[in-house]
Amino acid sequence: MIFGRVKPLDAILATAEKKSLKRSLGAFQLTMLGIGAVIGTGIFVLTATAAQKAGPGMMLSFIVAGVVCALAALCYSELASMVPVAGSAYTYSYAVMGELLAWMVGWALILEYALGASAVAVGWSGHIVGFLDSVGIHLPHALTVGPKIEWGILKGGEVGGFVNLPAVIITALVTTLLVIGTKESATFNAVLVAIKVAALSLFVIITVPMIAGHMPNFHPFTPRGWGNPLDSSGTGVLGAAASIFFAYVGFDAVSTAAEETKNPQRNVPIGLIGSLLICTVFYLLVAGGVIGSFGAQPLIDPATGKYFVEGSPELYGSAACSATHAPLVCSKEALAYVLREVSSPWTGWLVGLAATIALPSVVLLMMYGQTRIFFVMARDGLLPQNLATVHPRFRTPWVVTVVTGVVVAICAAFLPVGTLADYSNSGTLFAFAAVSLGVMILRAKDPGRARPFRTPALWVIAPLSILGCVVLFVSLNRASQMVFLVWAAVGLVFYFLYGYRMSHVGRGIVEVPEPEAYEETQPPIPGTH
Ligand code: ALA
Repeated sequence: MIFGRVKPLDAILATAEKKSLKRSLGAFQLTMLGIGAVIGTGIFVLTATAAQKAGPGMMLSFIVAGVVCALAALCYSELASMVPVAGSAYTYSYAVMGELLAWMVGWALILEYALGASAVAVGWSGHIVGFLDSVGIHLPHALTVGPKIEWGILKGGEVGGFVNLPAVIITALVTTLLVIGTKESATFNAVLVAIKVAALSLFVIITVPMIAGHMPNFHPFTPRGWGNPLDSSGTGVLGAAASIFFAYVGFDAVSTAAEETKNPQRNVPIGLIGSLLICTVFYLLVAGGVIGSFGAQPLIDPATGKYFVEGSPELYGSAACSATHAPLVCSKEALAYVLREVSSPWTGWLVGLAATIALPSVVLLMMYGQTRIFFVMARDGLLPQNLATVHPRFRTPWVVTVVTGVVVAICAAFLPVGTLADYSNSGTLFAFAAVSLGVMILRAKDPGRARPFRTPALWVIAPLSILGCVVLFVSLNRASQMVFLVWAAVGLVFYFLYGYRMSHVGRGIVEVPEPEAYEETQPPIPGTH
C-alpha cells in the first residue's frame, strides 16, 4: 500500500538532532529572512499584471492573497516547529501523508521554486533593460524578451522577441554562485532588505499623498468584477489575487530555518507572520499609491471591444502601449515607471536601481530552495542518486544546482513573467494546501507529540487555508491550471516508473545520515549566517 509508505517522524527528527545546527536565529533575523525572500518581482513588476486583471480592485486582490498566505503560514508554523529539517513541505508530507503525496508535493515545489526563480529573473531583466535605457544604452528588443509563443497552452512573449538574454545571464551568474557555495550572509541579506524597504518607502512617500487629489482614479473600482473561476480567464479581483499571490511567496523560507532558530515556538511564527504582515502593509500602500498617483485601469482592445489579455503580444503591440505616456499595464517595471511618470526621472531611476540590485538575491533564494528539495528527494531515492553528488572542492550539491540552473534559464529565456508567476503559483498553492491538510492529520494521528508551536484554532484555520488555496487555484487562468495538471500527471508516471521502485523507504532503508556527511551537503540557508 503506497499510502502506508511513511517516513517515520522519529527518523526525521533523529536526522535533525544529529545535524544539530546551532540555534542562533532570533525573531528579527527570521523576519528579515522572510522579507528578503518575499519582496521581489511580485510587487515591482506584477502590479501591472494585476492592474490589467482587476483595475483598482487589485487592492482587494492583495488582501485576499495575503489572507490565504497568512492562513497557510499559521499551518506551516506548527509543522516547521515540530519537524525542523530540510525539505520543508516535502518532508512534512512524507512524515504525515506518505510517500506518494510527498512526491507530488516535492514535484509541485519544482514549479514553485524553479519557475518562481525564472519569473524573478525575467522581472530583473525588465529592470536592467529599463535602467540601461535610461542611461542611453539600448539593447536590441529581440534579445530582451522571449518570442511570441502559441504552443498549445503555452502562450505569451512578444512579437519581435527572440530570447530574454539578461534573464539567462542572471540565472547563469546565480547558478555559478550557488555551485561555488556562496552564502548570502545575514548582514548582506539585511542590506538588501533595507534597500528594498527604502525603495518601497520612497514610492509610498511620493505617491500616497497624491491619492487625495486623484480620487476619480479609483472609479470604477472593480471594472472587471470579482472574476468568475468557472470561465477560467483568470481575471477580476480573484484572478488578480491568484497572480499577485506570487508577491507573497517565499515566506516559507522562514520555516526551513526553524532548526536554526532559538525558541522556535515563539520566533518561527513571529518570523512567518511578521514578514507577511510587513509585506502586506507595504503592498497595500504601494497599490494605493500606484492607483492614486497614476491610475491602474485595465486597457480595452479597440479592435475587439474586449479587455486585452495581460502581458500579451497584442497588449504590448497596441497603440496605447506605444504612446509616450503609456498606461501602467504596459510597463515591465511598474513601480519605477510610475515614479518616472508622476515624480521625476531620478526617483524612478532609484527605485529601478534598487530592484536591479535586490532581485538577484530572490532568484538565489528560490534556486537554493529548489536545489535543497531536489537534494533531499534524491537522497530519499525518489530521484536519481547522482543528482545529489557533492562537488569535491566546493562541497555543494553541484549536479542538482546546474540542472536547476539550466531549467530556470530555459524557462526565463522564452516565457513572460506573468505566465511564469502563474505557473509557479499553481505549484505553491498545491503545497500550501497539502501542508494545511498534513497539520490536521498529524493532530488527529499523533496528538501527544510535542508541538513547540500550535496553530491557533486549527480546525478553523487549516480548512480555511485549504479553501483559500482552492479558490485561488480555480481563479488562475486555464493554461496555468492545465500546466499544473499535466505536470502532476508526468510526476505520477515518473514516480511509478522510478521512485516507487527506488525509494529508500520502500526498500526498507531508513538511514539517518551521519552529522558530518549531512553538514557538508547541507549548506546553511542563505541569508541566515
Ligand atoms: N515573492 C517573491 C517575488 O515577488 C517570489 O519576487
